[in-house]
Amino acid sequence: MTSAEEQGKGAEPLLEVQDLCRRYGEHVILDHVSFRIMPGDVVAVIGPSGCGKSTLIRSLNLLERAESGRILFHGRDLLTLSSREAAATIPRIGMVFQQFNLFDNMTVLRNVALAPEISGGLTRSQAEEKAMMLLERVGLAGRAGAYPSHLSGGQKQRVAIVRSLAMDPEIILFDEPTSALDPEMVQEVLALMRDLAQGGLTMMVVTHEMRFARNVSTRAMFVCDGGIRVDEPPERFFEDPPDPRLREFLTTAGMRG
Ligand SMILES: Nc1ncnc2c1ncn2[C@@H]1O[C@H](COP(=O)(O)OP(=O)(O)OP(=O)(O)O)[C@@H](O)[C@H]1O
Ligand SMILES: [Mg+2]
Repeated sequence: MTSAEEQGKGAEPLLEVQDLCRRYGEHVILDHVSFRIMPGDVVAVIGPSGCGKSTLIRSLNLLERAESGRILFHGRDLLTLSSREAAATIPRIGMVFQQFNLFDNMTVLRNVALAPEISGGLTRSQAEEKAMMLLERVGLAGRAGAYPSHLSGGQKQRVAIVRSLAMDPEIILFDEPTSALDPEMVQEVLALMRDLAQGGLTMMVVTHEMRFARNVSTRAMFVCDGGIRVDEPPERFFEDPPDPRLREFLTTAGMRG
């Protein structure tokens, strides 16, 4: 049993996905997908290109609309919330994208302070104070007045993570957060994500960074053919993969001899 499972023992799932379905035309992307995320879980999501990893995690905060199924967040189905309820709930599910999605016309400080001010109930000065505190925590306070175009890719992604943290999310979903980065910047972003995981943040991370998945996740999922084919602790997932497609995938990724 992983430590996250132990911590979550007896606890309610943070997220429970039941029979989630999504298709594009005739193409079935998610075929009755079900899983649970407990508080403290760090779930690595791995799978071949085009298998539906982005569709899956984007569905969880309603960036994509699943056709059927349930997404229970603290037991309430996100797919049945009114728009007012969704506006109050969805900010608690943070998202970090491959392409950062920062506002280029705003400084780093404004990028981070904007959402807490607009939908987090803080005044501008409270939001900026919180933003500065978070930027300090990740060593970016010195760049608070800079615009995104003056940052490195690694700095942009760390700002994007801080922006997500500023809403006090209960979970952050990451969609290939290091895939757009030059190799020398990947580690600084992974190090921040490792710190967040060790601090107990619940995370779901679509990634091709197998060593990160192996060393930091509490669970690894292999998405393939419309579903989650494997959902195991990383030791089992990587050392003794229980599925031939996963074995082949890991061999190609250089994770198995
Ligand atoms: N808006 C869309 N319209 C039609 N098909 C789509 C759309 N978005 C995604 N798809 C298809 O759905 C499938 C799953 O896409 P998705 O982006 O979720 O895959 P992925 O696993 O994230 O891939 P990658 O590793 O390349 O990011 C792909 O076959 C893709 O072509
Ligand atoms: Mg994707």
